[in-house]
Amino acid sequence: MLRRDNIAAKVSLSLHTEDLQLVEPSRKFEDNFLAMAAEYLREGDKYEKERYRAAIRDFSAYLRGLHDAAKGVALPEGHVPATTYWLVRDGETIVATSSIRHWLTPSLLHEGGHVGYGTRPSERRKGYGKIVCAKTLEKAGEMGLDRVLITCDTDNTASAKIIQANGGALENRVIAHTTGKQKNRYWIDVQTARPGVL
Ligand SMILES: CC(C)(COP(=O)(O)OP(=O)(O)OC[C@H]1O[C@@H](n2cnc3c(N)ncnc32)[C@H](O)[C@@H]1OP(=O)(O)O)[C@@H](O)C(=O)NCCC(=O)NCCS
Repeated sequence: MLRRDNIAAKVSLSLHTEDLQLVEPSRKFEDNFLAMAAEYLREGDKYEKERYRAAIRDFSAYLRGLHDAAKGVALPEGHVPATTYWLVRDGETIVATSSIRHWLTPSLLHEGGHVGYGTRPSERRKGYGKIVCAKTLEKAGEMGLDRVLITCDTDNTASAKIIQANGGALENRVIAHTTGKQKNRYWIDVQTARPGVL
């Protein structure tokens, strides 16, 4: 079995000169976050555009919503608590984001999974997707999860590579109820996670 620290070391090799920290969202990065949000408005899909438009409209409310979601406060019907992280390069640039849903509902078990991530449009294809996934899996282990489900559309080659590089084992392929698209479901054992190895 691949050890999580080996995976982390492998995926971080090319970025060894950079300081990459996975942090919880904070006002400290407001200006950089808004610059990233503007990129998503130009280049994101419709869900990303919707999310980041709301964030630009009222950053304080957006931040409050993320903190509430992490604590399970004021959750929309059917949602579970979810913690969001930002991967920050050299203390100032958000290069990727991720989130961990604390447990699975039937819908998350079918197609949503525990972990989601995205790389800032201008920072793609530099290895940050693999890094943000690796670091988020460490957090999931610290949170007490044993196994993490990650799903991706079958045509999302980049995400499939990220999941496989992080030790994902394909369980099966399903049709997503929300989109009608085919999704691959992967499980990752996070028991071997070692905080602080990246
Ligand atoms: C998927 C996503 C996170 C990839 O982020 P990234 O930072 O570019 O990923 P990485 O640089 O770590 O690349 C991982 C691998 O995918 C490959 N890759 C990246 N973008 C690719 C693309 N558009 N097409 C094909 N391969 C791609 C990389 O070359 C790399 O391959 P390698 O393992 O052979 O070296 C990013 O494209 C994104 O945010 N997409 C929108 C949100 C999304 O799809 N999230 C995942 C939901 S399951």
